[in-house]
Amino acid sequence: MMIEKKMNYSILKDIEPQNEMQEQVLKNAEELLELQSLYKSAIREISTKLEILDDEFQIRFQRDPIHHMECRLKTPTSIFDKLIRKGLEPNLKTARENLTDIAGVRVICNYIDDIYMIAGLLCAQDDISLIRTTDYIKNPKSNGYRSLHIVVHVPVFLTKAKRLVPVEIQIRTIAMDFWASLEHQIHYKACNNVPGTLVNKLKECADTLSNIDIEMQNINKEFQNIGD
Ligand code: GTP
Ligand code: MG
Repeated sequence: MMIEKKMNYSILKDIEPQNEMQEQVLKNAEELLELQSLYKSAIREISTKLEILDDEFQIRFQRDPIHHMECRLKTPTSIFDKLIRKGLEPNLKTARENLTDIAGVRVICNYIDDIYMIAGLLCAQDDISLIRTTDYIKNPKSNGYRSLHIVVHVPVFLTKAKRLVPVEIQIRTIAMDFWASLEHQIHYKACNNVPGTLVNKLKECADTLSNIDIEMQNINKEFQNIGD
């Protein structure tokens, strides 16, 4: 990652702008690299915090609440498409001011209780501020989508400044993730024109998976009690 970053900057530095337009293009490219670097750092801060919580749990209780994590930085095309969809000027300033999902972390947990525990422990940290919560587990979407979404601000310390960077964190169980991956693929392939029969089948599956999540959690609790 270090090498990639150095290369990007050195490429820009090697170019001698010949006119005002080229100068502007270079300036924008540099700003984009800076923005990507800042949001990538915020993702690293959040994923490290989550890994530390998971590690401590492993030491104290011999179990991992987090099954795995996925991180993604929104691509420039996707950033600009979203700004246009929202009727905003497609530039980096509006992106910084209006989008809270440039940095995304998806946390896949084993059990439903782990989702709320992880979210609670992260938000209780004194450098984290919770900006927004959307609980699609307590209030599933009409298609059956379930996940806990939170947006937090995390500080990133740079050479001359401290920047509070928003990160969107989606926390869900393995079953919720299994469902969301298939639903996403179907939507993508069908260009949002999913046949009604499939919509209904997906909704049924989401409800079945939700019951299984609850059953599995209950079994695990009983099992923990046997161990005590
Ligand atoms: P956008 O961020 O513009 O998508 O809308 P929003 O701000 O209302 O976001 P919301 O919190 O509802 O969803 C943001 C992200 O959650 C999406 O980009 C998806 O990753 C995920 N998501 C939300 N709803 C669904 C859904 O119905 N199916 C699947 N597969 N993923 C979803
Ligand atoms: Mg969003």
